[in-house]
Amino acid sequence: MASGKKKNVVTSYLNKVNIKKTSNLGQILTDTYGAEGARNLFAAFDAIEMKKDIDHVNDRYDFIHSDFDFSMLMTCFQDADIIRNTCAWLNSIRKQFGKTVLDIGCGNGIITCFLASILPESTFLAVDASANAITIAKEIRSRLGLENIVFMNSDYTKLAGKQFDTVLALRVLDENCSLEKCRFQAFSEQLETRKKQYNTQLNLLSDLVAPAGNLIIMDMDKNDTSSLAMLDLLRERSMVLTKFQFLSCREGDMKYDDLYTAFVAEKTPAPVTYARLFSQWSSIYFAGAGNEGYKDSEADFMLELCEAGARKGYATFHPVTKEKTGMFFICDYKDREDFFILYQKNQSFSRLGIYPIAQKPEAEKLLAEDRQQDEAARFVTIDIN
Ligand SMILES: C[S@@+](CC[C@H](N)C(=O)[O-])C[C@H]1O[C@@H](n2cnc3c(N)ncnc32)[C@H](O)[C@@H]1O
Repeated sequence: MASGKKKNVVTSYLNKVNIKKTSNLGQILTDTYGAEGARNLFAAFDAIEMKKDIDHVNDRYDFIHSDFDFSMLMTCFQDADIIRNTCAWLNSIRKQFGKTVLDIGCGNGIITCFLASILPESTFLAVDASANAITIAKEIRSRLGLENIVFMNSDYTKLAGKQFDTVLALRVLDENCSLEKCRFQAFSEQLETRKKQYNTQLNLLSDLVAPAGNLIIMDMDKNDTSSLAMLDLLRERSMVLTKFQFLSCREGDMKYDDLYTAFVAEKTPAPVTYARLFSQWSSIYFAGAGNEGYKDSEADFMLELCEAGARKGYATFHPVTKEKTGMFFICDYKDREDFFILYQKNQSFSRLGIYPIAQKPEAEKLLAEDRQQDEAARFVTIDIN
């Protein structure tokens, strides 16, 4: 979880926007609207929750955000804990945000405004299907004097053709899937069911992320294969998990914590799977390098590395000796000028990434330093073609 310093950023922001946890909605509504006003609000909310038609979700959020005070009170009751935890987590991964950020289903924008305040160099587009939520979000933005967010009343499924460095989907995907219960299905069957349910959303979302950008998802953990299904679908779309976190929170008058999963998936610019090349490469170049113990996700990356190396460009090979096991590869990315691959491995870790070409000089410097450190090592530059 976040450090003390990071927590302060969150706490001072939440104090500024007056979000504090409350567990007695009846009391705060009565204090604000009087006993009859509170009763009317409860009755109106119940009537909306009873609806079964397709507009139900939109009606609910339009109601919750029907005026500024009510929106903030409901947020304090329903969301204070998750907002605090989410802001702390997002703060801890702030370096993974790019210059352009899209927040889909931003609600009244409390989290978007937090991000915009800690990331002043980024510009944000935040959309919500509820017009009322967007009105409140604009009010919060102007109270905070933020100039780097555009709030827009829109269904996110209608956004197309544009890409963003970072896309956020916080507590919104489940509302856009008809998640039938599948708890009693066998694991593999359940996974397939969930994949079908999330498929359209994740197609859309992965299209909205620019190459090398990040998709950040946070949703209720349903204690089943939902998160796994999302991750499988993302991997099939060349998106790779880089962060995963459980967020636990207790809202309103709940007796138990809810668990949320939050993760970051990075969009790599290539398709996967060239098993044959992988095995050729691994047998030639990784023999004796201690290549055992790759996780599956690394193996997929490896396949891409091999393909890139085999098809185009060069790899610089630093042979592994008994004394020193440091090793770097820098490869051009196949058919792409804007990315390169850096693979780094030593006895205790391996790291493989696809990086923007601008970072290549830095990687080459690293490689040169490694070479200097081990004068005895033979250096071989292999022209793959
Ligand atoms: C539970 S709230 C989450 C708000 C905010 N992201 C957060 O985590 O605090 C879900 C929001 O998603 C919005 N929403 C649901 N489906 C949407 C869609 N297809 N396009 C845009 N907004 C949507 C709802 O109007 C609601 O404001």
